[in-house]
Amino acid sequence: MGQRHPSVMIEMKQKGQKIRMLTAYDVLMARLLDQIGVDMILVGDSLGNMFAGYDNTIPVTMDHMVYHTQAVCRGVSRALVVADMPFMSYHVSVEEAKRNAGRLIQEGGAHAVKMEWVSGAEAAIEAVIGIGIPVMGHVGLTPQSVYQLGGYKVQGRTESAAEGLIAQAKLLEKAGCFAMLLELVPADVAQNVTSQLSIPTIGIGAGAGCDGQVLVTQDVLGMTDAKLPRFVKPYATLHAEMTKVLGQYLSDVSSGVFPGEAESF
Ligand code: KIV
Repeated sequence: MGQRHPSVMIEMKQKGQKIRMLTAYDVLMARLLDQIGVDMILVGDSLGNMFAGYDNTIPVTMDHMVYHTQAVCRGVSRALVVADMPFMSYHVSVEEAKRNAGRLIQEGGAHAVKMEWVSGAEAAIEAVIGIGIPVMGHVGLTPQSVYQLGGYKVQGRTESAAEGLIAQAKLLEKAGCFAMLLELVPADVAQNVTSQLSIPTIGIGAGAGCDGQVLVTQDVLGMTDAKLPRFVKPYATLHAEMTKVLGQYLSDVSSGVFPGEAESF
């Protein structure tokens, strides 16, 4: 069964081995990530922006998440697949939280779910863990609360905000989370959280002191022509490359170079 158990992530922290996590929304990307040996794959609700073209993650539903989780899981044989619990899937009641987390595992095939911090989330998280589902917590910038936070801003900048963030992370660790995602947090605060938790921290825009890193795969590949967040390092410029090769296809069809005589049956 490979390395997919959450306890492997905790062992990696203990051994000082960095945890590598990337996002996937479809089978093709998931298979590729699994083959290169990524430790965890996140079926992020960022699919709302990156796949569906919404302005934010708020419109993403449980049905969207189940569909994409199924697609990802069909391509994975080794990595730990974590699926996001979308907005409103655990905010109304503990019963709904359990039912929805259960769908991502039972129908979607995920191995764990991720739940963003909201006030009182620890009860829902504890209940989901109580029915045998591993949970990754998510503190710092929590995009499902974008309207309350007033935009995609760095969190935990002041001393009291940093203390609040550390308290949230500790509360979610106590509730039983196996890992903690830290999004858009000053590096020293992320380092502090990392040293205070025994579970691994996975950073995105949170500096080098975290136990692991996650990025949106399309950003790493430079697949969009949109402005990337400052913390993203694009390792390729696939948008330009794809524009070039698909443009070549268009002109080959126009000129008759493709399919050409040789390709006819
Ligand atoms: O939805 C997502 O992709 C995320 C990011 C932090 C990677 O939560």
